[in-house]
Amino acid sequence: MSDSDAATGGELDAELAALLDIERFDPPAKFRERALLKDPAVYERAASDPQAWWASQAEELDWFQHWTRVLDDDDPPFYKWFTGGTINVSYNCLDRHVIAGHGDRVAFHWRGEEGQERDITYAELLGEVERFASALKGLGVGKGDVVGIYLPMIPEVVVAMLACARIGAPHNVVFGGFSAEAVRERMEFSEAKVLITVDGAARKGKTAPVKDRVDEVIGDLATLEKIVVVRSKGTACQMREGRDVYYEDILAEAEPTCPAEPLDAEHPLFILYTSGSTAKPKGILHTTGGYLTGVSATHRYVFDLRAGGDPDPDVYWCAADVGWVTGHSYIVYGPLCNGATSVMWEGAPDYPHKGIWWELIERYGVTILYCAPTAIRACIKWGAEWPNKHNLDSLRLLGSVGEPINPKAWLWYHKVIGAERCPIVDTWWQTETGAIMITPLPGITATKPGSATRAFPGVSADVLDESSGEPVQQGQGLLVLTHPWPSMLRTLYKEEERFIETYFQRFGSETYLVGDAARRDGDGYLWVIGRIDDVVNVSGHRLSTAEVESAIVAHAEVAEAAVIGQHDEDTGQAIVAFVTLQGDIQGDESTIEGIRETVSGRIGKFARPKRVIWTEDLPKTRSGKIMRRLLRDIAEGRALGDVTTLRDPVVMQQLQDQVSQARAQEE
Ligand code: WT7
Repeated sequence: MSDSDAATGGELDAELAALLDIERFDPPAKFRERALLKDPAVYERAASDPQAWWASQAEELDWFQHWTRVLDDDDPPFYKWFTGGTINVSYNCLDRHVIAGHGDRVAFHWRGEEGQERDITYAELLGEVERFASALKGLGVGKGDVVGIYLPMIPEVVVAMLACARIGAPHNVVFGGFSAEAVRERMEFSEAKVLITVDGAARKGKTAPVKDRVDEVIGDLATLEKIVVVRSKGTACQMREGRDVYYEDILAEAEPTCPAEPLDAEHPLFILYTSGSTAKPKGILHTTGGYLTGVSATHRYVFDLRAGGDPDPDVYWCAADVGWVTGHSYIVYGPLCNGATSVMWEGAPDYPHKGIWWELIERYGVTILYCAPTAIRACIKWGAEWPNKHNLDSLRLLGSVGEPINPKAWLWYHKVIGAERCPIVDTWWQTETGAIMITPLPGITATKPGSATRAFPGVSADVLDESSGEPVQQGQGLLVLTHPWPSMLRTLYKEEERFIETYFQRFGSETYLVGDAARRDGDGYLWVIGRIDDVVNVSGHRLSTAEVESAIVAHAEVAEAAVIGQHDEDTGQAIVAFVTLQGDIQGDESTIEGIRETVSGRIGKFARPKRVIWTEDLPKTRSGKIMRRLLRDIAEGRALGDVTTLRDPVVMQQLQDQVSQARAQEE
């Protein structure tokens, strides 16, 4: 580092330190002037009649048939929204914009890893979606058939999702970072009929052979009839006669028109698997009318979106992956439904260089950026010189999602990226909630770094005391949502009992248990603390400790494993595994690598344990339950909590010694 760099770094630190004293940030006057929502009365209006508020949001959509009832709450927790209404998501995302004369508007500025550029207009997207929807029908996909999608960040992933939505085939997207094994499992659970995947995917200058990996594991799935392969990288792949077809080939032969199917408001739109407290992922089921209402309303108001047609239209960029719910709701459905122009980036934030995000913001004139705290922390580490090389004046609003944002990252985002001019919306929500639930409204709500502030209009959040279940006026408790909302999950796919148990048992069928702890401060602001179950959040990726444990014990030399999430500067939480090996096998570096490989293969690279700690035994209760709480205490170097219920308290002492030894070695 040169002297001048050091000076800048020091100055920045001092400026950030000064900002730490500011408790609240009001919406900047210039922003507020033009904001879509600037009257705080909107909160009271929505709260006084949430159904009327959500109905007014649903009126913004095009319905084939208007609903007769807004909310059917006759049989909680099985809520139905917009009963009697028929609608099509792809029609709302595409056709209606083209019909309104906006066919030439860019839907996505797509940018490939090697600098390739493709601008896709709404008319072009509609054309390709219609063709692909016809092609899917040609493959025998009908209303209600599940279609798996395992694709990287290429335009075809959006086409595939919308084509499914067009014909009423629920999609089941698997994030490209998951292993083929994880894809297989999800295809099996959902009984998918077709899987859409790719020949190869870009991975920082290399190409990963996706189709080949899928072939290795998928072979004998009874329900899977067809595999559609997008030719993206030209990677050679084996095509099985009668089962595999190329996307481009079936597209070329397909009928160019395929009218959008009018679907019941409660028709399933997609299943998305996410981690719960057991090794088996949960298939979150979302439906059509309510989901679209929730994502379009939140996308419009939380991001204060001005679509084309406005003299000063936004260029919006959600830097997540389509394979997570953030991508479903805020790359695909929310933005397209609102007619937004978005950026879609194929690659990682540090390839071809650590300034690529800022280069893209300058290149496309991005006005709204939505990303995860873990990415912001990586940028802080790489240094302000990367963003400082680019003109980021186009930005007017910043968003954060996926985990609590620490005040230091918030202030850096505010200062270095937003130049103190852009409000930050820290948005709390989940795969289950479908849309943003707790968030500032950027033209109204004063923000406090680290707090997601308050519930979105029409949403009711509360903090309940863990033992009494009574609302906590000020202090910590369990976060709940106390009124149904249109984009809520409808069930866990094929696991109705688990749906009720997980979310609606603790406080009854009318109170949704979130699974997060939260604190309410004296101003009523909500501060989400983290999960209360065995779910960990690594770089915004949701994982269950049980899932990782079951992957680790698949390793031939492992007898038993216990996994915890440990606080981590970069990734929020990191996976730490306590492992007992078979017989008297001695674990070494290569065993650790072997374990990491096993986890990579079973789940995906992002789930690999950062640390592996050998142990002769695990702390268990007399009934044999692993006490992860004690392992967390050990890993974080805290004083141990109650150990009296342990079967063998000696285990703890051994473990503590082991961990301090490992620490000493690391340092
Ligand atoms: C869990 C949900 C929301 C889409 C991406 C993650 C944590 C999410 C925040 C936030 C604090 C947050 C919670 C939540 N979380 N956003 N702004 N502040 N925590 O979706 O994979 O379903 O994970 O992520 O713990 O329960 P997900």
